[in-house]
Amino acid sequence: MSLLGSMQAHLNAVPHLVLGLQVLGALSAAIAVSGALSFTYDTFLRPGVSLRKFGAKKGAWAVVTGASDGIGREFAIQLARAGFNVLLAARNQAKLDSVVDDIFKACGNGGEGEGVQTKTFVVDFASADDARWEAFLEELKPIEVGVLVNNVGVSHEFPSDFVDTSPEELGTIINVNVTATLRITSLIAPSMASRKKGLILNMGSFAGAAPTPMLAVYSASKAFVRTWSESLAAELAPKGVVVEHANTYYVTSAMSKIRRPSLFIPTPKAFVRAVLAKIAPGTTTPYWTHALIGAVLNLAPSKVVLAYTHSLLKDTRRRALAKRAKLAKQE
Ligand SMILES: NC(=O)c1ccc[n+]([C@@H]2O[C@H](COP(=O)([O-])OP(=O)(O)OC[C@H]3O[C@@H](n4cnc5c(N)ncnc54)[C@H](OP(=O)(O)O)[C@@H]3O)[C@@H](O)[C@H]2O)c1
Repeated sequence: MSLLGSMQAHLNAVPHLVLGLQVLGALSAAIAVSGALSFTYDTFLRPGVSLRKFGAKKGAWAVVTGASDGIGREFAIQLARAGFNVLLAARNQAKLDSVVDDIFKACGNGGEGEGVQTKTFVVDFASADDARWEAFLEELKPIEVGVLVNNVGVSHEFPSDFVDTSPEELGTIINVNVTATLRITSLIAPSMASRKKGLILNMGSFAGAAPTPMLAVYSASKAFVRTWSESLAAELAPKGVVVEHANTYYVTSAMSKIRRPSLFIPTPKAFVRAVLAKIAPGTTTPYWTHALIGAVLNLAPSKVVLAYTHSLLKDTRRRALAKRAKLAKQE
């Protein structure tokens, strides 16, 4: 082709190129607008499924694991206020009893038997044997469970490389976050499915939404919870059971070791209020500033998120080790 001919061909192609770019631009704008609209709807406008649907004020029970502290304690109190009887499970009887006192105060009850009913079940989910699970089943037999909150979860003592993590710590994280969650759900989900009614609420973490170096086992355990929850949600939806996986950024608690709340880090009370107001099947991010962070993270390249998280956790580890050394010196 002559030089003139190739210049002509190039010029002919330009309108197509311009049209192509315009179409691409319009498509990108449409995707951005629909993303922004669906974020706004999910985060601020979508009405949650009413707790009445799961038996609130009709004698149904809520079972909350890890109910003696933090987020689980708030679930127990707020579900009682919403009209559920509550079964609370954790390792320490005295701590569970004190939450029961708080429930009675919150519900204006004078004592057990008046209004809301409670049960406590002491269990170490890291080491529960078949006999303990059998005992749990016996506790569940006489009650109708409308809500199961799989809240209990443990993380690494502080960020560490996998090769430096002890077998005991690995075992505890998997037993509590994965095995106990599966076992308790398998005790409760069949009766929900046969009654065609129930809510299974599983506590997730941003650490499960993206690989998290130095919290590798915790991160993988929460990724497990996410994948399993979404499969279970699809299986149980036709049977009338809602399965929700609540994706969660930091909340003030013993686990997060964050005491002061901020715009992005709510108290357990504010966090649980947001969760219960917006019950929906599948993965949700119920707290609005968490949803905002999630949206930004979704836009960023995953390698950048991973590198940022890694450097953040290296810093957390450095500070945790310095604090430990300082405490050791003081002893
Ligand atoms: N806080 C956050 O920033 C955050 C962020 C993302 C996700 N989450 C998730 O939210 C959930 C609750 O976290 P949290 O911050 O509320 O934790 P938390 O304050 O440490 O409370 C944990 C609860 O679980 C119980 N527990 C711990 N180990 C147990 C075991 N082996 N057997 C039975 N019970 C046990 C504790 O009671 P006892 O010690 O008395 O047994 C306590 O009631 C977890 O699944 C966590 O992964 C939290």
